Amino acid sequence: MAAPAGVPAPASAPPGREPLLRVEHLTRHFMVSGTRIDVLHDCTFQVTRGEVVAIVGQSGSGKSTLLNLLGLLDRPSGGTYVFDGVDTTRLGEGRRSHLRGEGVGFVFQQFHLLERRTALANVCVPMVLAGVPLLSRRTRARALLETVGLGHRLHSQPHQLSGGEQQRVALARALSREPALILADEPTGALDAASSTMIMDQLLEQARLRDAAVVVVTHDPKVAERADHVVELVEGRTL
Ligand SMILES: Nc1ncnc2c1ncn2[C@@H]1O[C@H](COP(=O)(O)OP(=O)(O)OP(=O)(O)O)[C@@H](O)[C@H]1O
Ligand SMILES: [Mg+2]
Repeated sequence: MAAPAGVPAPASAPPGREPLLRVEHLTRHFMVSGTRIDVLHDCTFQVTRGEVVAIVGQSGSGKSTLLNLLGLLDRPSGGTYVFDGVDTTRLGEGRRSHLRGEGVGFVFQQFHLLERRTALANVCVPMVLAGVPLLSRRTRARALLETVGLGHRLHSQPHQLSGGEQQRVALARALSREPALILADEPTGALDAASSTMIMDQLLEQARLRDAAVVVVTHDPKVAERADHVVELVEGRTL
């Protein structure tokens, strides 16, 4: 059962389990035309494997910025981010990119699918980078696309798919390497109720059956309700 928005996420991991990720007093600011914009002021929370955490907050509150930090796509301006026991703030780009490739699956707010490639090829991309043999990766990509209800769209390119279908391809791609951490930015934003339930079922299954940690940004109260914890971002601070 989810804690309602505004109730702090638990400060410590369940007994006997180290958190997969831990952020402490994380901050991020940007310089725009010589002016400093403070987006994240103080974010502190942790996520254990097997947990689904929903991040909620108004548009512009810094949710995508935070997700980029968790996914090691960006570096914080201050604070600590420990991923899988490693203090990532001290790591060089090579180690960070290795950790990201091995450990993190993304579903981006803007999908970021390759335009001239089919759904099947898009889902294969992370497996190509990981050196998975051709036949294995095609079999796995096909199975994943079937799981998200796109078995009939394997050979369609993104521009031939609806927004919700593209979102589901992005989810299948994120799951392709069975990452320890799945980051999903509004994964149900473009979906109808049935598809939205299917995506959440998938994310919960990843946490429950595969023991992944799932962090999902959402505006949808139904999605937040199904998470184990809710972290609310208000003016760049986690509540
Ligand atoms: N690279 C950047 N340079 C300057 N400002 C940025 C940058 N990235 C984000 N911001 C600013 O940070 C704030 C938070 O942006 P972010 O995309 O994290 O919000 P969000 O909570 O994900 O919003 P939404 O719900 O609309 O997706 C915005 O005001 C945005 O303009
Ligand atoms: Mg966003």
